[in-house]
Amino acid sequence: MTTTPSIRRRGLAAAILGAALALPMSAAAQSPIIVKFSHVVAEKTPKGMGALKFKELAEQKLPGKVQVQVFPSSQLFGDAKELEAVLLGDVQLIAPSLSKFDRYTKKIQVFDLPFLFDDIGAVDAFQASPAGKGLLTSMTNRGLTGLAYWHNGMKQLSTDKDQLKRPEDVKGLKFRIQASDVLEAQFRALGANPQKMAFSEVYQALQTGVVDGQENTWSNIYSQKFHEVQKTIAETNHGVIDYMVVTNTKWWDGLPADVRKGLSEAMAEATAYSNKLAEDINQDDKKKIEAAGKAKIQKLGKDDVAAWRKAMEPVWKKFEGDIGRDLIEAALKSNK
Ligand code: LMR
Repeated sequence: MTTTPSIRRRGLAAAILGAALALPMSAAAQSPIIVKFSHVVAEKTPKGMGALKFKELAEQKLPGKVQVQVFPSSQLFGDAKELEAVLLGDVQLIAPSLSKFDRYTKKIQVFDLPFLFDDIGAVDAFQASPAGKGLLTSMTNRGLTGLAYWHNGMKQLSTDKDQLKRPEDVKGLKFRIQASDVLEAQFRALGANPQKMAFSEVYQALQTGVVDGQENTWSNIYSQKFHEVQKTIAETNHGVIDYMVVTNTKWWDGLPADVRKGLSEAMAEATAYSNKLAEDINQDDKKKIEAAGKAKIQKLGKDDVAAWRKAMEPVWKKFEGDIGRDLIEAALKSNK
């Protein structure tokens, strides 16, 4: 049977359309390339501001070539789904807290060891060291490439009780934790009951008494209004909440070289911007919490801090094998 040229053309067009619908469009074929950046915190936080800065810079550097869409506050994907969404190509950038990667690599758990870092300066130094930078590519075999570390800050402990000074004050209490086995062990070492829970559910869980307490940065406590549903926040600085901005390795490697270069530059500049702001945002939010007068801020003496440190110590031994002694040593060297 013979076909006319127009039928042949129509057949070809249908085949091309069919193929285009069946395959996810490669980034290079899109114009402009859409970069979806999903995260779980509010906009006026270090991560929220960093994401908006990245959008501004990327679109400035790659006019007409790239459009960045930022989705804050778990609008698009929450904790449970955002890593999967990057791997499926539903979003291109996310910045989970370093506590949320333990399904992909045990190494990044180093950041969760209690009282490992003296302050955010030490965290920064470790992230900039060869060992710290090496962790950015520790998940490429799982399809995830780390582009940068972003700071939030040091964690404080809060509960709905009046007394929160010593480890014995949290015995038997229920705490919301991020999805991290190290954090689970940390609260068990304190004789408390940890519950893994997505960030977007914490306020309600605190308000309704599903949990008694949680641990977070001043910025997250203030922007989520946790201080309105907690009685005491102890200034423990016992750990860190920082982020790794990650992308889908295949998508990133498949970008046109000029686009990848522009996005890398935008990321480096947005990182410097956000990391410079982070400590100020946290200190400002601490003041706002104080001024709000809802939760009391409990200052701790040297002896109190030493008691928390001692109570959480067993966690290190438990995870040393998974994390590696060399990495722990490298992190410890960052303390001045
Ligand atoms: C949390 O779940 O408490 C934090 O990791 C949220 C965030 O992204 O800062």
